[in-house]
Amino acid sequence: MEIDIEKLIKEAIEARERAYCPYSNFAVGAALLVGSGEIYRGCNAENASYPAGICAERCAMFKAVSEGHRDFAAIAIVGGRKGEASDTYAYPCGICRQVMSEWAGKDFKIIVAKSCADYKVYSLEELLPESFKL
Ligand code: THU
Repeated sequence: MEIDIEKLIKEAIEARERAYCPYSNFAVGAALLVGSGEIYRGCNAENASYPAGICAERCAMFKAVSEGHRDFAAIAIVGGRKGEASDTYAYPCGICRQVMSEWAGKDFKIIVAKSCADYKVYSLEELLPESFKL
């Protein structure tokens, strides 16, 4: 499937504006492209009971699955200090990598971006080698 990387990053940057992160002040946005061509956005949503919060990536992935999509094509991730432009590549945490592995298509791409012009592209195998599968 053709992936418009810049469009996906733009969606992640917009998703990041919705991040609820008063405890960490680290805002993350994600945009997940599924097989139908639709894009699901996610942001991190924290909680006063810290472990109850969720990462932007899982937010996007569970939104997609709840709408019937189990064929993930690519995800773009943008993160950094709240209220500032991103100046770091925000890599997905281990739990989010594991969740990606459940529904990642064969050529699934992980894009970590500071901006539409500054990004890196990885396969899941690169970020989660020898992953656990039943
Ligand atoms: N966070 C994400 O949204 N995605 C990741 O892959 C790593 C961390 C969020 C969780 C928390 O709200 C904040 O970043 C600081 O850990």
